[in-house]
Amino acid sequence: MNKLIFSFLFFSTLAAAQRPDTTYSQPFRPQFHFSPRINWTNDPNGLVFHNGEYHLFYQYNPFGNKWGHMTWGHAVSKDLMRWQELPPAIAEDKNGMIFSGSCVVDVNNTSGFGKGGKTPLVAIYTNHREKNQSQHLAWSLDDGRTWTKYDKNPVIDLNMADFRDPSVFWHESSKRWVMSVVLPHEKKALFYGSPNLKDWTKLSEFTAPQGEGIWECPALIEVPVEGQATSKWLLLLSIQSGAPAGGSGMRYFIGDFDGTTFRSDFRPGDVRYVDYGKDYYAAITYNNTPRRISLGWMNNWQYANDIPTSPFRGAMTLPRDLKIIKTDTTYELRQQVIKEFSPLTSHSYQWRGIDTKQLNQSLKQKRIPGDNYVLTVASELDSNLVVKVRQGVGEETLIGYDAASRQVYVDRTKSGQTSFSKNFPGRFSAPLKLRDEGISQPERTMVRLQIYVDRSSVEVFANDGQVTLTNLIFPKPESKGIEFVGGGVRSVTIRNVESTWK
Ligand code: FRU
Repeated sequence: MNKLIFSFLFFSTLAAAQRPDTTYSQPFRPQFHFSPRINWTNDPNGLVFHNGEYHLFYQYNPFGNKWGHMTWGHAVSKDLMRWQELPPAIAEDKNGMIFSGSCVVDVNNTSGFGKGGKTPLVAIYTNHREKNQSQHLAWSLDDGRTWTKYDKNPVIDLNMADFRDPSVFWHESSKRWVMSVVLPHEKKALFYGSPNLKDWTKLSEFTAPQGEGIWECPALIEVPVEGQATSKWLLLLSIQSGAPAGGSGMRYFIGDFDGTTFRSDFRPGDVRYVDYGKDYYAAITYNNTPRRISLGWMNNWQYANDIPTSPFRGAMTLPRDLKIIKTDTTYELRQQVIKEFSPLTSHSYQWRGIDTKQLNQSLKQKRIPGDNYVLTVASELDSNLVVKVRQGVGEETLIGYDAASRQVYVDRTKSGQTSFSKNFPGRFSAPLKLRDEGISQPERTMVRLQIYVDRSSVEVFANDGQVTLTNLIFPKPESKGIEFVGGGVRSVTIRNVESTWK
């Protein structure tokens, strides 16, 4: 062979071997959750709806598959389910890395960044460098495609090493922007107000630690109370360690915000969690939408850098619609997967009956299902229930309801690859209430679970989003079995979910 041709073939084969697999078909690649084509992601950032597009910015490392070089990655979607990844939006520079933050549509051009009648999108984020975190601005006049950093940054600097994650919204009655931001180690949320996004005045502080680790990613939003003409204020908060399943998780508070101060209705010691699984973190909500839609990072800082995926590492949760319900004694958060998910599903399997053995046989015969599905099961309240999913040789992920303790749980001890972290395997539980006091509804006789199974995750919603459990799993591709245990199963529906990457 001619030397030239040989070296051409040699080097192009080598290049191909080194080029990452950029398809969305790897065994652990989520098929209906957002993940970047290659490289590391953590928190969602700057969630905003603008000119017909939902923007998802996210903590991104453009240079590798582990945390570092934090930059805002960028993707857009028309339905929050099918995402198009765009070039990174705001990159680290000599001043530091671009940490988490939010994005607003400055309709009245209060910032003055708008030019030629174009409405600016303004990003408010934390600039991170050694020993200093401060709040910065960047703006875009072309639908988030290109960004200019404000030349008078920072807009808030307390000369502190840890002061981060600004979340900003327009507060209509006081006609100003309001920011929530945290002092992580002090476990305090601080609130600031501004007429123009550039000049900020401190309004108040909120704290209510319960022995957990540092606070991150606060988000204050007004949420209508279901069935009433009123609304309440919800404060979402991420705790880096000490969550119920171990490691990272999220708390929430419901109360009132008068434009200056947030007051929680919860008594000290009344600790509420957003999700009871191991992998639900840093969720914030969309700005500029009539609905309250949240999106989180499906991971846990205990092992986020070690999960066995490549060439990407990290994915977002399914987007959720949030609502608040009022009971006799308190307010509670309810979460449902957004309605835009439904068009991706198609009927696959339905069963009603009392004989679990028969159910298991029919599931085996029909070779249900494909890779991705949503399984709904209704089972009697006084029976224990176990659904095994992603079952194969030596592998199974259990989703259960324990009647005696009235707990819903996910057990991923034998879910597949688990040995990359001693903190990964385990059983994680959530308390289930059988009745919402004060709400006119018949007492439940069934527990109803909706289980969303993707290639490397299982999200469980119990009794219409009363409690949720989000967990990663890494089974073999061929471990696809489903099996039920327990005498109380009365109905099962399985719907296939189409890949959003086609
Ligand atoms: C939360 C967090 C934020 C920070 C970002 C850095 O997961 O630690 O507090 O802004 O990630 O990537």
